[in-house]
Amino acid sequence: MKICMVGTGYVGLVSGVGFAETGNHVVCADIDAEKIARLRAGEIPIFEPGLDELVERNVAAGRLTFSNDVPASIAEAQAIFVAVGTPTRGMGGADLTAVDAVAQAVAEHVGRECVLVLKSTVPVGTNPRVRRIVEGAPHPIHVVSNPEFLKEGDAIRDFMRPDRIVIGLSEGDEFARNIMERLYHPVTLNKDRIVWMDPASAELTKYVANTMLAMRISFMNEVAALCEKVGADVHNVRHGVGSDTRIGSKFLYAGPGYGGSCFPKDVKALVHTAREHGLELELPGATDRVNDRQKGVLMRKLRKELGTDLRGRRIGVWGVSFKPRTDDIRESASIALIDDLVSDGAIVLAHDPEAVENAKARFGDRVQFVDEQYDVAKDAEALVLVTEWRQYQNPDFDKLKSIMATPFLLDGRNIWSGYGLRGMGFTYEGVGVRGS
Ligand SMILES: NC(=O)c1ccc[n+]([C@@H]2O[C@H](COP(=O)([O-])OP(=O)(O)OC[C@H]3O[C@@H](n4cnc5c(N)ncnc54)[C@H](O)[C@@H]3O)[C@@H](O)[C@H]2O)c1
Repeated sequence: MKICMVGTGYVGLVSGVGFAETGNHVVCADIDAEKIARLRAGEIPIFEPGLDELVERNVAAGRLTFSNDVPASIAEAQAIFVAVGTPTRGMGGADLTAVDAVAQAVAEHVGRECVLVLKSTVPVGTNPRVRRIVEGAPHPIHVVSNPEFLKEGDAIRDFMRPDRIVIGLSEGDEFARNIMERLYHPVTLNKDRIVWMDPASAELTKYVANTMLAMRISFMNEVAALCEKVGADVHNVRHGVGSDTRIGSKFLYAGPGYGGSCFPKDVKALVHTAREHGLELELPGATDRVNDRQKGVLMRKLRKELGTDLRGRRIGVWGVSFKPRTDDIRESASIALIDDLVSDGAIVLAHDPEAVENAKARFGDRVQFVDEQYDVAKDAEALVLVTEWRQYQNPDFDKLKSIMATPFLLDGRNIWSGYGLRGMGFTYEGVGVRGS
């Protein structure tokens, strides 16, 4: 099938290459000419494990191409996917400018009857809004809601073997149903994973899923604060609670607050949607507020240990991406921490295995980025672990102790809490863990 993926970011590129891998002919289109030029030159503009190999294979097979001519890319396609960004705007709602622009382009340049698939995360009501935009186009356009659930870092596996595929379409739209069934047939062969529903429910499902996960994290962050007050250990509580099969063990980790391009904006957008309909959703609102407060937890702990005057003090940071296995730094807990440190006059040294290019674009020369992870700790008064990349899991603590000015380890992810670091002479602090 001929597919056009409009928006070649984390979602669009992975989905585009995923569809190409199963035999479709895909053009990934984007208005970012530089991004398209890099892709055409064989360079992958994002870090996602396994993506480079898949792109290379499908480009070589002639099934995957890249274009910044969005209208021309639209004209031929039987399925046009919208995978553009939907960032937060003003009062917390989703900014649909890019979605509207794509819909307008489709209305003007569509060359055949097709499906227009909304893969971007969009608020309830976007499907009919897009329908209105494409009304009167020269060919019938079937608007489908198909929110994406992939996780950065595991995106290819998630796309190829999703837990479920949510598809919202109008009752009786057999044209759209057939195309969507065909597109996802290869990944549903061993198990029917498609959950069919109406567009409004599909749109809402995405926000509810992300908010539910964010809520678990915020709750555990509140529990971590309580653990510190009462002398409990959030690791133990997590194990005890998560082994209840009704609850499950995922997304129960206390830390420096959730980040990324999805949870923060999607929680806010859900609250906003409810407000537009005269409802105040208390739990998502509280989830967002708790997270905002949690973003300051590492800074509060640093100040408690080092005092409030951080001018000229050297602080090392491990991890800038919002989670391991991605170079995405959007809304990362590191950003809040580094911004605060810099504005307090601290000297910040940072390391990240994949996100330095993005981090340099964000911080410029206000932060010293180093290639070798131990270099951030040289003469530092604190080393703060913000992102739990594998290579930080079991570092050479003797080396750290010998090169740091004062051996203070602030473990934002609680990955070293059982390591006996205090016995080695470190000052150790986690988030809600007693540590040793
Ligand atoms: N990143 C994730 O893990 C993830 C997971 C699930 C859903 N989503 C959702 O998917 C959507 C895309 O997210 P992303 O992280 O891939 O975003 P992204 O910022 O990485 O990519 C968006 C791309 O769209 C392009 N674009 C913007 N306007 C355009 C236009 N008018 N025409 C063509 N291209 C245009 C941008 O240049 C950019 O390359 C968002 O709605 C997001 O909430 C993201």
